[in-house]
Amino acid sequence: MKRTTRVGIVTSGGDCQGLNAAIRGIGKALLHDLDSVEIFGMRDGYRGLIDNDYQYMEAKDFSGILTEGGTILGTSRQRYIPGKAIVDEDGNDLMPAMLDTYNRLNLDCLVVMGGNGTQKSAKLLMDAGMNVVTLPKTIDNDIYGTDTTFGFQSAVDIASNVIDYIHSTASSHGRIFLVELMGRDAGWLTLHAGIGSGADVILLPEIPYDFDKIVEGIERRRKSGRNFSIIAVAEGAVSITDQQLSEEERRRAREQLGHSTISYRLASELEKALGQEARVTVPGHYQRGGPPCPYDRVLATRFGAAAARLIRDRQYGCMVGIQKGEIVAVPLADAASQTKFLPVDHPLIQTGRDIGIFFGD
Ligand code: F6P
Repeated sequence: MKRTTRVGIVTSGGDCQGLNAAIRGIGKALLHDLDSVEIFGMRDGYRGLIDNDYQYMEAKDFSGILTEGGTILGTSRQRYIPGKAIVDEDGNDLMPAMLDTYNRLNLDCLVVMGGNGTQKSAKLLMDAGMNVVTLPKTIDNDIYGTDTTFGFQSAVDIASNVIDYIHSTASSHGRIFLVELMGRDAGWLTLHAGIGSGADVILLPEIPYDFDKIVEGIERRRKSGRNFSIIAVAEGAVSITDQQLSEEERRRAREQLGHSTISYRLASELEKALGQEARVTVPGHYQRGGPPCPYDRVLATRFGAAAARLIRDRQYGCMVGIQKGEIVAVPLADAASQTKFLPVDHPLIQTGRDIGIFFGD
């Protein structure tokens, strides 16, 4: 008798561009590769797995979604206690409910697409006995074991475009502009967008900034006839004086001064120190929205097709990644073991320094 392979798909955590391209890649490749397969899409990420809420997916569901932003399955964030459990509001462990859905559907494998946090929580699913294959998706590009993630390049394109547009208005008014970019505690997105759009100063979480040196840098630009400056600020950027504080302490200190984010605080300090108008632009979730760029469509399709191959070969417990242009299967235990921060000696930071971009240190 023909054996049917049963696969669940989950998109978890913050969305990004390329999720639908990856869903399409998995679905099409599974249907193409295997004689008999049944695919179940969990609604709203782990929430669907917890609540036994899913949709049966057929060939037609994987068509026409390559260029669509977001995720057709929906997503959600769950409370995750690092290395220990996924819990509800009251701290109850949700693993039994997830195992129950997995067993009830008699799944051979669950494909989980997620960012840095989801790789870690997916390892808990694996430890609980589920067969898991994960895909690295996030605009933050902070997942260990892969050179890049899908969503990242699309967000770089959008963030660069924002800074491109800010250039003309900054120059017309002779203002300092701070463009605050996402990326959580990693500076990949800000570094790439900053270099790609010619920012004058780039502030990254990995390189704590010295405020006085930023002032000196902008003054130097003014003396050389440049009346405006553009600063690409990572949302997780931190000053050398604040780096000892916890994230919560930094947030509280900022809010006491009436500043919602690091860029607003810096803008007000720079206005005072330099007597020049400063403005803040925060593109926020715009960076995560809309269609994936063609690079991400290709990457997500490659990742999806690779996940299907792993399932066909029953090679579970790994994350599909890309290293030096080659698709690889990284043990999930490795991928979940750490966060991929930007190394301070990264060649792109050196390139920035070579062309006179200032990193605030
Ligand atoms: O991890 C992706 C990301 O967009 C980060 O860059 C950002 O800090 C965070 O998610 C925002 O989270 P939320 O969508 O829950 O506001």
